[in-house]
Amino acid sequence: MLKLAVLISGGGSNLKALIEAAADPSYPARIVCVGSDTEAPGLEHARAAGVPTFVVRPQDSDSREEWGQLLAAAIQEHGVGTGPEPGLVVSAGLMRILPAGFVREFSPNLINTHPALLPLFPGAHAVRDALAAGATETGVTVHIIDEGVDTGPVLRQAHVEVQPEETEEELHERIKQLERPLLVRTVRDIALDTLDLVQISQQHQS
Ligand code: GAR
Repeated sequence: MLKLAVLISGGGSNLKALIEAAADPSYPARIVCVGSDTEAPGLEHARAAGVPTFVVRPQDSDSREEWGQLLAAAIQEHGVGTGPEPGLVVSAGLMRILPAGFVREFSPNLINTHPALLPLFPGAHAVRDALAAGATETGVTVHIIDEGVDTGPVLRQAHVEVQPEETEEELHERIKQLERPLLVRTVRDIALDTLDLVQISQQHQS
């Protein structure tokens, strides 16, 4: 059984999809903790499901690296990133760039979901940037996190056609409708070793 630590900053609809999937005994992963950089509304999904939560605020640290160390320690307290079974850290709407030390601590068992077809439109405003660029198609990418911003190896993508006159919120919601099941499937495939993160990240480096 793969142990998951999920990191969020917002409403947590991707987290909710993972919680619902993991409630099925045949799903091969369990969420052992949910962390945030802020008192995110989505933490309520975890609390309602009896999953432990924690908040590690960057404002309470002297540096980004120190914040990353405190975040890593909070995750490791729940048995992810320690011992022979590394578990998986899932950034599902965490709106912070994880510091290099944190990435090295968990790599390659560290994934992110991003609302664009990477390498297009990395960063915090992917949906807005796709609309501003006049893209006719965008989507979602689940990828391994490396030390760059949204540059790690792509695991899975799903495409969405941009509709004329669509707002950022409308497009983002349509992306999320594909994103939630894509994330659930990708985590399942990592748990079942259908996706081998060690091998994929080694191939990406060579
Ligand atoms: C998701 O669409 C995720 O891809 C995005 O935030 C949303 C969180 O939604 N992440 C980023 O933009 C990271 N650069 P949720 O809180 O409803 O799961």
